[in-house]
Amino acid sequence: MIERPGVLEKTGIPDGEDAEFPFSIADFHDLAQILRNDTGISLEQSKMPMVYARLAKRLRIAGLRDFRKYRKFIATSEGADERRHMARALTTNTTSFFREAHHFRHLRQNVLPPLIAAARDGARMRIWSAGCSSGEEPYSIALTLLSMAPDAAQLDIKILATDIDTDILQKARNGIYSNSALAPVNEEFRQARFLPVGFVDGEEHWRIDPQVQGLVAFKTANLIAAWPMKGPFQVIFCRNTVIYFDDQMRRLIWTKMATLLSPGAHLYIGHSERIPAENEAFSPAGVTVYCHQAESSAAEPEMSEVRGGADAGS
Ligand SMILES: C[S@@+](CC[C@H](N)C(=O)[O-])C[C@H]1O[C@@H](n2cnc3c(N)ncnc32)[C@H](O)[C@@H]1O
Repeated sequence: MIERPGVLEKTGIPDGEDAEFPFSIADFHDLAQILRNDTGISLEQSKMPMVYARLAKRLRIAGLRDFRKYRKFIATSEGADERRHMARALTTNTTSFFREAHHFRHLRQNVLPPLIAAARDGARMRIWSAGCSSGEEPYSIALTLLSMAPDAAQLDIKILATDIDTDILQKARNGIYSNSALAPVNEEFRQARFLPVGFVDGEEHWRIDPQVQGLVAFKTANLIAAWPMKGPFQVIFCRNTVIYFDDQMRRLIWTKMATLLSPGAHLYIGHSERIPAENEAFSPAGVTVYCHQAESSAAEPEMSEVRGGADAGS
C-alpha cells in the first residue's frame, strides 16, 4: 500500500500533520492482532476508519498523541485496563428483548415443554446464553420459561449468562431498562415482570422482577479462553457473538459447544450465522436452530488460542 503525506491511501484517514492522531497501517495491524488474541474478533483493513473513530477518544483520555504510542502502552502491564477499554470500544453490544422472535417461539413450542416436564420429575435443566451483552437475551429466555413454568424457582433450573465485558455484565445484573428497550416485550410480561424505577434522562425506566433475575446467573467468560463451566446444557443461545470471529475460530467454538450439550439439546445462533453441514454433531432443527446429535462423539477441540482467566461456572 502506498502512503503519501496527508492521507493514507484507500483508508480515508488523515495522516501526518492533518491527523489529530497519526495512524499507520502497521499500527492498525498491531491493534487488530491484539484484539484478535484477546477476544477472537478479526478486523479487515477496511475497518481502519471505524477503529480510528472509536479509539481516538481513548487516545484523548490516555493523553497519548499517536497510535504508535497507544499500541505500545496497551502492550505493557500498566496498559492492561486500557486494553480492555479498547476491546470494549471495538465490540458491539447491540441486543434487544426477544430479538429474532422466531427463536423464542421455537423454544416455547418445541424445546421447553419436555424439559419442564422432566424438571418437574427432578431432572436438571441448564441453559447458557453465551455473549449475553446487557441481559435482554437471558431475561427473554427466563420470561418465556416463567410464563410456562411459574414454579421454575422451585425446580433445578438455571440460566447461565456470560460475556467477556464486565461493564456490560454489571448493566445486565442491574436489570434496569428504558421504555424503548422494553418495546418488544408484550404487555402481559411488562405488567407482570417489570417494576417502575422512575425517569432517567427524561425516559421512564423499569427494573426486572427479582423472580426473573433469580433464574439467571451472570458470569464473566471469554469464549476463546478456557471454559470452566462443565454442562451439560439442554439449550445454548450463542447469537451474534462469534459473527466477527474468523471461520476457523467459529468452527472450534461450535465443536466445543457440542461437547457441552446433552444429546437432543438445541443450539440457537445468529440470523447470519450457519453451522457447516460437515459438522456431524448438529442437524438443522429450524431457522438458525440446531439439534445436537445423540450419536455424535465430538471430541474436545484443541484451541491453540485458549488461555485461562474466565470465572464462569454452570
Ligand atoms: C452483539 S452482542 C450479542 C448479544 C446477544 N447474544 C444477541 O444476539 O442479542 C455480542 C456480545 O458478545 C460479546 N463478546 C465478544 N467477544 C466475546 C468473547 N470472546 N467471549 C465472550 N463474549 C464476547 C460482546 O461483549 C457482546 O456483548
